[in-house]
Amino acid sequence: MQNALLKNHPRGTIKRHTGLYVANLAWYHRMIQYKPIPKDDAGATLRGSRETFFGAGSLNINTGLNPAVIIRSEDGSYGCVINITENGSDFSLHAEKAVEQAIAKFAVNKISKDSIETALIGGSDSAKWKTTKLIGILRKAKLPMNEFDLNGMFYRKLYFDPKSGVAKVFREEVNTAHWNPGSASLSLNDGTRGFSEGHVGGVVTNATRFFRQQSTFKALREHIIPEHLQITPGKPFYLWSAACSSGVEAYSYAMYIHRLLTRARAGIPFMVFGTDINEKLVKTATEGEYDVAGKDLAEYGAYFNRYGTINGSSVKFGDEIKKFVSFRRFDLKNKPRSRKFRMIVCANVFQYYQDDAREHFLGNFISALERPGYIFANPLTPNLAKKIGLEVLSKYQMMRAL
Ligand SMILES: C[S@@+](CC[C@H](N)C(=O)[O-])C[C@H]1O[C@@H](n2cnc3c(N)ncnc32)[C@H](O)[C@@H]1O
Repeated sequence: MQNALLKNHPRGTIKRHTGLYVANLAWYHRMIQYKPIPKDDAGATLRGSRETFFGAGSLNINTGLNPAVIIRSEDGSYGCVINITENGSDFSLHAEKAVEQAIAKFAVNKISKDSIETALIGGSDSAKWKTTKLIGILRKAKLPMNEFDLNGMFYRKLYFDPKSGVAKVFREEVNTAHWNPGSASLSLNDGTRGFSEGHVGGVVTNATRFFRQQSTFKALREHIIPEHLQITPGKPFYLWSAACSSGVEAYSYAMYIHRLLTRARAGIPFMVFGTDINEKLVKTATEGEYDVAGKDLAEYGAYFNRYGTINGSSVKFGDEIKKFVSFRRFDLKNKPRSRKFRMIVCANVFQYYQDDAREHFLGNFISALERPGYIFANPLTPNLAKKIGLEVLSKYQMMRAL
């Protein structure tokens, strides 16, 4: 499963176009042998609140504000797009049925579960809960999944070609009459001296969540903190949350590390440094007050209570945890000052950049790492990691510099 995940990981290249394209997400490039399948089943199947579009040829779907699941056979001979329109409590039921139906349809076409790959194109901010449910359903179905983070208040049209594995997302801002011309990929050439906040903001979303990258927390608990305590007892532990958006990622690490170190009675200093190119987000992060209604409150209420004050649907972090976080504006293009971090997390950013920029960012990260040092940057591109001398720890979907 792990190998399949790595093998199928997206390059996530997003090319700039004139015209209507906003994002062009291409899967891992490789030669695809096209195996024709009769097109008799191409088109939409409407079942109550779900639409599933199957086909061997290209598929055009208007997904509105919903997240969409794309499933494709590795050889590109067959694909489908699932769009769940249900808004109520039956959402999961419909979604599970749709995924089951898709797997069955692939089986009828003699495509086994082992040779399919899936992607999730995130829906609008208001439909984030659906994205979370879909992730759970795809995991339960044991399907490898790549997540593309395209939240925001947008209606979307999706064009998907199973043969090439390319999904193009056209988006329209809510309440505007026309589809937006957009750009969506950043190369180093786009930021000769550095990236401008406005340019990045036009391409990259600010979507973030508490405790988002589960594998990194597991890595901290099982491996990184115990190793740090063993090989450098007494030495401070520094983590950099690079491109931290509004800071919930940095607070999540700070609370988690504080808990781990307290339990281990380690008594060492630690700091989580959060940076982002967006000044406003850095300000929000420094203030440390967030809306945590619903799921966040249900899942992480104990953390919020322990490290902050909950007031209705918001949490305000207190000094006890704020003293372990520090935020500032920083462009990943720039070389960091030489603080030695044990771990750097740059989550959900690389998909917006081309390989030249990813390599440059990783180079900067390596220069700021302790040895051994750990980097989480997704999508993880094993070839790129290898090229710049990083080891891939597939168990934690992380990279290590020795
Ligand atoms: C999708 S959010 C991810 C936030 C967080 N890491 C997470 O996973 O929850 C992407 C963030 O990357 C930031 N970003 C993009 N390019 C950047 C750059 N060159 N330098 C610093 N921040 C950048 C954006 O401002 C945005 O807040």
